[in-house]
Amino acid sequence: MNNSGIGTYRRLLRYAKPYKWRIALSMLASLGVAASDAAIARLVQPFIDNLIVAGDWALAHLVPAMIIGVATFKGVSRYIQEYFIKTSGQLIIQDIRNDLFGHTMSLSMRFFGRTPSGTLMSRVLNDVGIMQSSVAEVLVILLREGVTIVALTFVAFYMDWKLAALAFIVIPASIGPAAVIGRKIKNYSKQGQIAMGSVTTVLEQTLSGIKVIKAFGSEERERARFITENRRFYNFLRKVFKYDAASSPMIEIISSFGVAIVVWYGLIRVGAGTMTQGELFSVIAAILLMYAPAKRLVKVNNIIQQAIAAGERVFEVMEQKPEINDPQDAGKLEKVRGDIFFERLTFGYDEEPILRDFTLHVSPGEIVALVGPSGAGKTTVAGLLTRFYDPQQGAILIDGVDIRKVTQESLKANIALVDQESFLFNDTIANNIRFGRPDATDNDVEEAARLAFADVFIRLLPEGYDTRIGDRGVRLSGGQRQRICIARAILRNAPILILDEATSALDTESETIVQKALINLMKGRTTLVIAHRLSTIMHADKIVVLERGEVREIGTHSELLERGELYNKLYTMQFQA
Ligand SMILES: Nc1ncnc2c1ncn2[C@@H]1O[C@H](COP(=O)(O)OP(=O)(O)O)[C@@H](O)[C@H]1O
Ligand SMILES: [Mg+2]
Repeated sequence: MNNSGIGTYRRLLRYAKPYKWRIALSMLASLGVAASDAAIARLVQPFIDNLIVAGDWALAHLVPAMIIGVATFKGVSRYIQEYFIKTSGQLIIQDIRNDLFGHTMSLSMRFFGRTPSGTLMSRVLNDVGIMQSSVAEVLVILLREGVTIVALTFVAFYMDWKLAALAFIVIPASIGPAAVIGRKIKNYSKQGQIAMGSVTTVLEQTLSGIKVIKAFGSEERERARFITENRRFYNFLRKVFKYDAASSPMIEIISSFGVAIVVWYGLIRVGAGTMTQGELFSVIAAILLMYAPAKRLVKVNNIIQQAIAAGERVFEVMEQKPEINDPQDAGKLEKVRGDIFFERLTFGYDEEPILRDFTLHVSPGEIVALVGPSGAGKTTVAGLLTRFYDPQQGAILIDGVDIRKVTQESLKANIALVDQESFLFNDTIANNIRFGRPDATDNDVEEAARLAFADVFIRLLPEGYDTRIGDRGVRLSGGQRQRICIARAILRNAPILILDEATSALDTESETIVQKALINLMKGRTTLVIAHRLSTIMHADKIVVLERGEVREIGTHSELLERGELYNKLYTMQFQA
C-alpha cells in the first residue's frame, strides 16, 4: 500500500470510530471462530492416537458431544461476528453517503457545471457501495483469519516442529504472486469505475432526453452508444475478473507442492517411528485448516485495494472546496428595500471575460429589464446576484451592502428566482409551492396559488393540492408548471425578484395568463426581468440592452425606440417575425 493509499484507508477508518463497540464485539467473536479451528486441529491427535490406534473405545462417546460443541461454539461466534460487522459496515456507508451528499450540495455551480451528474451519481451509489464491505469487514477478516493462522501454527509446532517448519515454506511462497495480483486489480477497478460513470451518464442523458431522441428517431444511435460504453465497462471488468479469478487457483497450485512434500516427509517419519499417526494428522489438519484463512487474507488485500480506489474517488469529491463561502464575520442581510447596485463587474467562467465593466443601478420597487442577443450575459448577471459565482472584479451592493459580506442564506432569503425551466420536484403540488417557505400554512399556499392564477386548475386535479407531480404523477402543461413556480416565488415573499426568460418556453396563450400571474408577483418588489420577447418588457421602468457582456443602451421603451440602435434592431427583428 502506498502512502496515499494508507491515508485514504485511515480516512475510511475514521468513519468506523462511532461504531467501535459493534466492531470490538465482532472482533471478540472472531477470536471464538479462530479458537474453534485450533481446537479441531488439536483434538485430531488424541482422537487418532488414543481412540483409533490404542483402541480406547470408551472415549468414543465423547466424540459426538465434542463435534457438536465445537460446531455450535464456532457457529454462534461466527453469527455474532458477521451480524455486528455487517451492520457496522452499512452504518459507516450511510454516514459516508450522507457526508458526500451534503458536501456535494454545498459545492458551487462551477463544480456542477463541469461535473456530469452521472459521475456524481456513480460516486454516491457505486463507489460508496464498493467501500461498504471493506471498511470494517476487513478489520475483522484480518483479525479472525490472522488469529486462526497463528493458533493453528502454534498447534502444528507443538505437535512436531520439524514437520511444521517444513510446511511453512508454502505460505510465504504464495504471498508474492498474490501481492502482484492485488495491485493489478486496483488499477483496473479504478478505470472500471470511470467506465461505469460513462454508462450512467449515457443512461441518464437518454432518459432525460428521451423525447428528443424519439423525435429525431435516433434510438439506434443511442443504443449503439450505450452498447459501446457498456462494452468498454465489460472490457475493464474482464481484466478485473481475470486477475481476481486467477488469485485463488494460483495459490492452491503453489501450495499443493508444499502439501505434497509435507505429507511425504510426515509419512516417512511415522514409518520410522519418530512420530505418532495422531501427531501427523494433527499437523496436517492444522495446515489444511490454515488454507481457507490464508486464501481469505490474500483476498482481503484485493478488497482493500478496491476500497482504496473507490475511497480515493469519493474523497476527491469531498475535498472539493466550495468556491463561494461565507466570510468568518459574515453579517445577516435583513429584509432589504431592494436597492441593487452592480458596480463595474468583470466576470468570466474561465479566462475569457463574459461581463466587462458592467454597471447598473436598480432602485427599490423598480422593474428593470435586461435584453440582448442570446449569449450576451443576461443569465450570468442573474447568477452573480444570487452568488452562484463571484465576480473577478467589481461588487454587487444590495441596500449598500456588499453581498459577499453577508451569509448566503440571508442573501437568498431576499431573492426569488423564476426561470425558464420551471423545475418541480416529484412531490405534491402543495409541497412544491411550500418549497419557497416550508412553514407556510395551507391557507398561505392556496392564497399564493390564487395570486399565481393556479388555484383554479389545481382544484380541478384529481387530488387537488395533494396531487403528485413528476414521474409517477400528473402531467402538467408548461404554463401550469410555470404558474406553480410563480406561486412558489410569491410564497417566498422576497423583496428582490429575478425572472429569467420566465415566459420564453410558453405559447402565447399560456404566456398571457402567466404574464398576469407575474404582474401579481412583481407587485412591491424590485424586479430584474430577463426576456428575449420585447413584448413582455415594454412597461419596464428601465430597459438595459446588453451585448457581449457590455451595457450598450439604457432607457425606457419609448426612449430606446427613438435612439437605441441595437434596441431597434432587436425590435424590428421580432415584430417582423
Ligand atoms: N456555466 C458556464 N460555464 C462556462 N460558460 C458559460 C456558462 N454559462 C454561460 N456561459 C457562457 O457565457 C456567455 C453568456 O451566457 P449567458 O449569461 O447564459 O447568456 P444569456 O443569458 O444572455 O443568453 C455565453 O457565451 C455562454 O456560453
Ligand atoms: Mg439566459
